Amino acid sequence: MAQTNELAPPRHIAIIMDGNGRWAKQRGLPRTAGHSAGAEAFRRIANYCRTLGVEYLTVYAFSTENWKRSQEEVGGIMLLLRRYLEEAISDMEKNKVRFRFFGDLTRLSPQLQKLCADAQNRSKDYDVQVNFCLNYGGRDEIVRAARAFAADVQAGKCQVSDLTEELFGDYLYSRDVPDPELIIRPSGEMRTSNFLLWQSAYSEYVFMDVLWPDFGPEDLDKAIEEYHRRNRRFGGV
Ligand code: IPE
Ligand code: IPE
Ligand code: MG
Repeated sequence: MAQTNELAPPRHIAIIMDGNGRWAKQRGLPRTAGHSAGAEAFRRIANYCRTLGVEYLTVYAFSTENWKRSQEEVGGIMLLLRRYLEEAISDMEKNKVRFRFFGDLTRLSPQLQKLCADAQNRSKDYDVQVNFCLNYGGRDEIVRAARAFAADVQAGKCQVSDLTEELFGDYLYSRDVPDPELIIRPSGEMRTSNFLLWQSAYSEYVFMDVLWPDFGPEDLDKAIEEYHRRNRRFGGV
């Protein structure tokens, strides 16, 4: 697929992979079928990002609020994740993608936690980085960072006055990862739903009507074109 714009793509793109349930409903299928099609869309887009030369792709796969869904749906999503990670681990040499996980993985099954750890460890020398947000919440991330900093102060490792925005960033899941320039939300919803609250301070948001399972390279091209049309001022003039 050719890139339709000649400008360099953003270094870091983040995506709220939303609309799987509605996609399935439109077809009279169970919601899990939508998640399965969503996993396919992710594979497509991760490959395309690599072709474009995007350095970081952060995807929202499961939020701290998504546990509210039925056991059947949550179980279906966890099963898909397991299959995806097993496949990603066996295809690692081919895809050469570096995995990181943002979120509290301790609530996942021990088996899934092990797959996440394996995927992360075995891919640590590759360049293109996928940050998988699993049991992730932006507020939860900030609270954990605040607790970790407080614990370091209590242990005498640093002082309250040492805290800067930069240092605080080191306590977040995203440490060492630049903020995303572009955040895409398909499915027509226009809200953050607790995604990257700290990191999105100056990100460009592109909201699109397409449902995630239908999202393809041409949609990513459109979002990148829209991003290039924006005038990023960062508070300046
Ligand atoms: C996103 O699709 C996937 C997850 C949140 C896990 P949804 O399941 O939220 O799909 P809609 O929004 O109901 O269509
Ligand atoms: C956000 O979508 C979470 C993920 C895509 C993983 P939701 O579908 O959970 O968000 P709301 O409920 O529409 O805000
Ligand atoms: Mg949704």
